[in-house]
Amino acid sequence: MSRLTRTGQNVLTEAMMRIAVLGGTGLMGKLVVTAARDAGHDVVIAARSTGVDISTGMGMDAAFDGVDAVVDVSDHVTNNAKKAVAFFESAAENIAKAERKAGVKHHVLLSIVNCDDPRLKAFGYYQGKAAQERAVEASGIPFTILRSTQWFEFGEKTVSVMGFGPVALVPRMLSRPVAAKTVARSLLNCVEQGPSGRAADLAGPEDLEIPAMTRTILQRRGQRKLLIPISVPGAGKAMRSGALLPGPGSMSAGPTLEEWLSAR
Ligand SMILES: NC(=O)c1ccc[n+]([C@@H]2O[C@H](COP(=O)([O-])OP(=O)(O)OC[C@H]3O[C@@H](n4cnc5c(N)ncnc54)[C@H](OP(=O)(O)O)[C@@H]3O)[C@@H](O)[C@H]2O)c1
Repeated sequence: MSRLTRTGQNVLTEAMMRIAVLGGTGLMGKLVVTAARDAGHDVVIAARSTGVDISTGMGMDAAFDGVDAVVDVSDHVTNNAKKAVAFFESAAENIAKAERKAGVKHHVLLSIVNCDDPRLKAFGYYQGKAAQERAVEASGIPFTILRSTQWFEFGEKTVSVMGFGPVALVPRMLSRPVAAKTVARSLLNCVEQGPSGRAADLAGPEDLEIPAMTRTILQRRGQRKLLIPISVPGAGKAMRSGALLPGPGSMSAGPTLEEWLSAR
């Protein structure tokens, strides 16, 4: 199947693809699934709740059958570096094995800006993401790795995980946050462009302190919570003084926080 897309003067014929979204039921996964379906692609939603487990390989052969590209936006949250590295490495190996078997030609991974920065090493989860990137690079499957900064949605998610009644803990971080929907569209662009290796880092338009950003979002929602900024042990100073900001060559994409809040 094909569809016609008008880009300025050019009329392109883009082939529709069959895309498996690992983590397709999660926050980012749902946005990627919607973006891909809106663009006319055929989507396979892969998560444990749909019978696919990347930690064991269960269900992947069926999920990848006839698939052109796999987008990995799954997650496994732990701050124990050993556990994070073990999970992400073995999951990446299971995924690559199933991709080889199914003849998948493109693996797209969502990662985090500067996850391999030595200043952030004490944050074990980032060691897991860096190990996941290395495993994808070594897999032999043509790949694109897109790193994004923290999303606007990150603050609310943290509040839901680290909220205790009227109080919530929020990490002290200086970021250049981006809307999750912008990241989802960018992931779809990566899929449509084909394997590109490391893509330019994706960030939002303004530098923001995560606790202040979260406070603004909750206030605009009419939610009352006392936010207590906390430092991530061993990486706190780096996180609040610029280690999470993208370097030269990154892409900056809207909306701004204000535009994002107004649109919701
Ligand atoms: N939050 C941010 O600001 C940010 C910034 C940059 C990059 N990222 C990256 O974005 C990715 C997605 O994050 P998210 O917040 O959208 O995650 P999420 O909402 O927690 O969703 C995680 C997804 O992974 C699936 N999953 C978990 N374990 C699985 C397993 N063993 N096998 C198969 N599926 C599994 C979950 O479904 P089941 O539970 O049904 O399995 C769910 O669909 C993460 O890799 C994260 O590192 C996040």
